[in-house]
Amino acid sequence: MTDTLSITVKRTTASRLHEVDLDTLKFGQTFADHMLMADYADGKWGNVQILPYGPLELSPATAALHYGQTCFEGMKAYRLANGQVVVWRPEKNCKRLQHSAERLCIPPVPEEIFMGGLRELLLLDEAWVPNRPGYSLYIRPFLFATDPFVGVRPSDTYKFMIFCSLAGVYYAQPLKVRIEPHYTRAAKGGTGSAKAGGNYGGAYYPTSLAQQEGFQQVIWTDAQEHRYIEEAGTMNIIFILDGKVVTSPLSDTILDGVTRDSVLTLAREAGMSVEERPVSVEELRDAIQAGKLNDAFGVGTAATFAPIQELEIYGVNYVLPSSSAQALSLKKRMEDIRQGLVPDTHGWLHPIA
Ligand code: COI
Repeated sequence: MTDTLSITVKRTTASRLHEVDLDTLKFGQTFADHMLMADYADGKWGNVQILPYGPLELSPATAALHYGQTCFEGMKAYRLANGQVVVWRPEKNCKRLQHSAERLCIPPVPEEIFMGGLRELLLLDEAWVPNRPGYSLYIRPFLFATDPFVGVRPSDTYKFMIFCSLAGVYYAQPLKVRIEPHYTRAAKGGTGSAKAGGNYGGAYYPTSLAQQEGFQQVIWTDAQEHRYIEEAGTMNIIFILDGKVVTSPLSDTILDGVTRDSVLTLAREAGMSVEERPVSVEELRDAIQAGKLNDAFGVGTAATFAPIQELEIYGVNYVLPSSSAQALSLKKRMEDIRQGLVPDTHGWLHPIA
């Protein structure tokens, strides 16, 4: 219990940790022993509990299942060389969940419940944070509407939950992707900057069409003209263009990625030239043809850095250069901070003591 937050804890009597085999691990399938749950009712958040991880009992009329009033977050806990457990910039995820909640008419979860609940949960499941390079405990906070009501209006009741699952490598190989010329992830005025469940469900169909043709992901373009690059699958996208670090600017169609922000901050700090500006498909194609695209990679919590090896632009496949000095040094710098090998001058590592 923290000083100000009251959490009821029911511990598991049968930990599943001994069943874990990191060698055969698949992302998002192996869940830690406990989960956090809080309820919103009568105009306030409360009833914060930690329980053994397990199924929920829900009415078939649960509002979130019908109208998508739900949003989520993704964070990672790491174990440092000295054994300490840290979470990467969770305050930023807390703020982003509050932003997503506001966009979806969900009462935001107070920081005290998000941060305090996270801490208590990780203290309890601390042993689940792997002690192996490249592995982490992926943390999934989420919010959903719980009114058993099929009328169309924001719910009066909600649940906030956090559970954790083991994570290793997300993409085993560099990506082959294509520019999406038709379908749209997000439109101006839409929910693209919120981590809304529907943004991901809506992406499945175009992604599956691309996958049938041998691509792993699509590169999303703007909804109006399909001319400007937006995101890479479920990640932000960063280019090294003519030696500069270039990425699409934040807007209501782009998720304010924590990894994106971390990479751009480190790039500026290293004296690299950073441009947050629209990048058109034409500019990208011209740069590839002129040999000026030095690198392209997706950045996100789950995948961290995902190099893009092949890019199809309107039917033409280009093999991209990778392993640029800039990308490699940014990746290394971030890894070094994450592992506690260099000073964390930004206070990005949130210790779970
Ligand atoms: C993340 O990188 O955290 C994502 O958003 C991907 C996730 C949906 C697995």
